[in-house]
Amino acid sequence: MSKMKSVKFEHERLSREESVIRGKSFYELMKRRRSIRHFSPEKFDRSLLELAVRTAGTAPSGANKQPWKFIIVESPELKKEIRIAAEKEEKESYEQRMPQSWLDDLAPLGTDWHKEFLEIAPYLIVVFKIDYLKTDSEIKKHYYVNESVGLASGLLLASLQNMGLVTLTHTPSPMNFLRKILNRPANEKPFLLIPVGFPAENTEVPDIKKKEFNEICEII
Ligand SMILES: Cc1cc2nc3c(=O)[nH]c(=O)nc-3n(C[C@H](O)[C@H](O)[C@H](O)COP(=O)(O)O)c2cc1C
Repeated sequence: MSKMKSVKFEHERLSREESVIRGKSFYELMKRRRSIRHFSPEKFDRSLLELAVRTAGTAPSGANKQPWKFIIVESPELKKEIRIAAEKEEKESYEQRMPQSWLDDLAPLGTDWHKEFLEIAPYLIVVFKIDYLKTDSEIKKHYYVNESVGLASGLLLASLQNMGLVTLTHTPSPMNFLRKILNRPANEKPFLLIPVGFPAENTEVPDIKKKEFNEICEII
């Protein structure tokens, strides 16, 4: 017998016009999101980050395990430590580990191993994925962890964009140094490192294009 306890689902039915207005306005908002690699040091109200994390926490997840943790880093000392460790890994990656094909794909983005933004951005959000929970007697595995944490991270980015903040989705590779610096338990694995703030003045972004609708969707 099912043990599910249920509650009434409150659904707000919109008119078609309202749906179109909302859909277009959200698309226009999200179209303006770009990965920003030059940040202003300007601070902002930290409660905005709390709202973004609360939004991320509403994401669906495999068996509702919510296998994520969001660490907000504000401390200049920790940000500096993270920058130094990230640059060490990234220097090695750019100079020795990445195959030429990867370097060629990154060339149009103009990225290199320098990561000043990790110290300059007022906050870093480090997203951890939790593959399992360990109790005294057993290890409980989580399901679809990458999919779940990816969805939550998408909501996080959308929420920050909606509040007028800019972000970079960063993955210094390998990222295990984040677990050590932030003193996280063994079952938490770094997933994304996201600087958040405002863009530096006159920031430019790579002139890249998104695929057309017909390239990413087929209606059958
Ligand atoms: C999983 C993932 C990892 C990424 N890692 C990096 C990174 O380590 N450094 C970086 O500068 N950009 C990184 N990016 C940003 C991408 O380069 C960027 O999203 C892409 O070029 C499209 O640009 P846009 O975000 O401005 O639309 C990453 C993006 C994703 C989704």
